[in-house]
Amino acid sequence: MALPQTMTQVRFNGYGSPDVIEIETAPVPQPGSGQVLIEVAAAGINRPDCLQRAGGYPPPPGATEIPGLEVSGTIVAIGEGVPASRIGEKTCALVISGGYAEYAVADAALCLPVPKPLSLLEAGGLPETYYTVYDNVFTRGRLKKGETILIHGGSSGIGSTAIQLAKQAGAIVYATAGSAEKCEFCRSIGADEAIDYRAQDFTAEIKRLTGGKGVDVILDMVGGPYIQRNINALALEGRLVQIAFLQTSKVELDLMNVMLRRLTVTGSTLRARSVALKAKIAEKLLKEVWPLLEAETVRPIIHKTFLLEEARTAHELMESSAHLGKIMLEVRR
Ligand SMILES: NC(=O)c1ccc[n+]([C@@H]2O[C@H](COP(=O)([O-])OP(=O)(O)OC[C@H]3O[C@@H](n4cnc5c(N)ncnc54)[C@H](OP(=O)(O)O)[C@@H]3O)[C@@H](O)[C@H]2O)c1
Repeated sequence: MALPQTMTQVRFNGYGSPDVIEIETAPVPQPGSGQVLIEVAAAGINRPDCLQRAGGYPPPPGATEIPGLEVSGTIVAIGEGVPASRIGEKTCALVISGGYAEYAVADAALCLPVPKPLSLLEAGGLPETYYTVYDNVFTRGRLKKGETILIHGGSSGIGSTAIQLAKQAGAIVYATAGSAEKCEFCRSIGADEAIDYRAQDFTAEIKRLTGGKGVDVILDMVGGPYIQRNINALALEGRLVQIAFLQTSKVELDLMNVMLRRLTVTGSTLRARSVALKAKIAEKLLKEVWPLLEAETVRPIIHKTFLLEEARTAHELMESSAHLGKIMLEVRR
């Protein structure tokens, strides 16, 4: 079937509030060498999209300015070096940008199969969170069976994925979240305990829950005053993994515990890494995590789905932080 020349996409008309979000018609992109063109069924909304909209997270040079880090859909065209047999494949893909559109280009190496129990829509919410969580919790954070982990933002897209994967890996899982309802949600998906950070001091609670020892790994997206408190909440040889700074990355710190407790402070971003590095994460996900999705022991949790044209409302919901899990955009043809 012939592809259309043009498509609908979302763009940011400048930087700022969700009001800068506009819908436009644009040419359908062409896949380059090693790439595929996906007819998008769904695109996940991720907090970094809000940061990009506000002007703080530009796409790497050469990537489209159109937002969107993950999509699901059907491969409808291929670039040089990609086997023609991939046309027609249902896939979920990590994309460097351009996901909020009817068609998106993805590197073939970053296109994973849709796990059988999941709908195309659900699969669209996997790539950005699963790549990020797997790499930061297990590769960087080196979380092992029997260890303890504290996951901040437990009810977020990232947090709800981290809780489930850490639990499946045999860890004891603690989470923080901003209300009693969010804490209950964290426990319902596998957290052994959840701390309402607005009502309790999480450092004191972690010390109490671990008998004074502290946790082995912390996954943090908040930063600011959390940084010192995280360092104080880590056990001997503990690892702090920083994946964002929703508050600030600039603080004054007492690093004495880093030395005395032999701590590791690390972190990463996903988007700027090379396709080859991301493909290595894809291989590990396929081998170690996709079987859990196939067995339905972990699952993406979709809070609400909007039409592509409703991206502005979807961003407003994300910034209200009222959601539990993922927010999705759906393409209706
Ligand atoms: N490094 C990477 O490669 C990478 C990749 C993807 C995402 N991320 C980061 O991971 C984080 C989660 O992403 P997501 O898409 O899952 O977002 P999300 O669902 O919107 O979750 C963010 C959560 O953080 C909490 N929060 C928001 N503002 C806060 C603040 N000022 N102080 C404390 N907590 C705050 C909210 O929960 P409460 O109501 O409980 O406060 C909110 O649910 C984001 O910061 C994102 O930038 C990093």
